[in-house]
Amino acid sequence: MKIFIDSANIKEIDKWLSMGVIDGVTTNPSIMFREGLYDIEQGTRKIAALINPLPLSVEVTTNDLGEMLKQGRQFAAWSPNIVVKIPQINQDGVPCFGVMRQLEKLNIRVNATVALSLGQVILSAKAGATYISIFAGRVMDEGGNASELIMNSVDILENSNFQSKIIVGSIRSVGDILAAAIAGAHIITIPPQYIDQMADHKYTRETVRQFIADANQAIEMMRSKKSK
Ligand code: E4P
Repeated sequence: MKIFIDSANIKEIDKWLSMGVIDGVTTNPSIMFREGLYDIEQGTRKIAALINPLPLSVEVTTNDLGEMLKQGRQFAAWSPNIVVKIPQINQDGVPCFGVMRQLEKLNIRVNATVALSLGQVILSAKAGATYISIFAGRVMDEGGNASELIMNSVDILENSNFQSKIIVGSIRSVGDILAAAIAGAHIITIPPQYIDQMADHKYTRETVRQFIADANQAIEMMRSKKSK
């Protein structure tokens, strides 16, 4: 299982990258906006250079399918590790699988994003998307069962020999991360605050504190023996 970081915060990306725990980065226009990366090209180039050759997903910012294709080609030209995020459908419900297919045919990797149903996952896989992003939190917002969707999606992709990998996003707790891992997600993309929470445990802190205190006591004992 791989872990991506769902963030456009350079400091956080660099921090977790240097610890060797992340395998890629995902963003979306809202994440970029929150981090003050108003110039998408500049922000994308910066993150792409930092994590190269790991993949960086960047989402198109238009509702027009022709424009999506144009933007996808443009984004991919900024750096070889850029993956273009294309939604399943646009805001009017027009399917975007053709855009995915054309980009993949041009050897531009696609992340088929905002997948909320098994039907969408199957169509994205048929279109040849490299990654398919299931938005677990949003599935659950609608009363859906995200774990079941992840499990069924991974099963179908693997049983039918599709190459697409499932990314689980829209993570809102450490519990969501563990549930996605147990359901068999290929990749989970996690906002930085939850990676911190995954690492922390008050009893681990307490145990480490106890070991250091005992080690210091041992040093004191050695010193006092030597000085006798
Ligand atoms: C994943 O690629 C998306 O960036 C992200 O997880 C979206 O989740 P949210 O908008 O529901 O928080």
